[in-house]
Amino acid sequence: MTPLSVPLRLGFLASHGGSNLQAILDAIAEGRLHAEARVAISNNSASKALERARHRGIPALHISGQTHPEPEALDAAIAEALTGHGAEWVVLAGYMKKIGPSVLQAFPHRIVNIHPALLPNFGGKGMYGIQVHEAVLAAGERESGASIHVVDSEYDRGPVLAQERVPVEPGDTPETLQARVLAVEHRLYAATLQRIAAGEIDLDA
Ligand code: GAR
Repeated sequence: MTPLSVPLRLGFLASHGGSNLQAILDAIAEGRLHAEARVAISNNSASKALERARHRGIPALHISGQTHPEPEALDAAIAEALTGHGAEWVVLAGYMKKIGPSVLQAFPHRIVNIHPALLPNFGGKGMYGIQVHEAVLAAGERESGASIHVVDSEYDRGPVLAQERVPVEPGDTPETLQARVLAVEHRLYAATLQRIAAGEIDLDA
């Protein structure tokens, strides 16, 4: 795999634990992903994601409805923070807010998201975190998985770039299924970003 000479310059948006953010930072540090983390932004000032970014010396910002009560100003502030820190790609890593038009316009075909199910199933508004796994089990599915997709103005829509299947085991709880899917997410997200870095996936195609 020949990486492009210029690394992917990543800006992250995350709301909670940030384990996907951590997995990507680890992949960069270990040379498995040709990228630079330029900034991490969270709507949650107490998010572990911000702590994880700070620990690696990455600028970590809290930008939310608390800091910017007006939705348009909030959207603009996020776009400015991303571009101001030199991000060229936006990685959603457990970000529970909708992406606004300013961010979408600043990063056309340059925003990716990970979702803990096999999209287009079990996606959409309200489908995040443990609720996704509860819905998969309630539907009696035999398998679930992780999906990485390009972000547009709707939740969990946009072309799927990569998907990996995970079995649903007898006796699974939402938590056990979540843990099995999350382990796959961590590997799949870094690997998919590396495929973008290496030019194997063209988001403009
Ligand atoms: C991950 O499972 C991610 O797929 C999911 O939130 C979790 C965040 O975990 N995202 C969504 O449900 C988006 N609709 P993390 O903060 O530990 O990376």
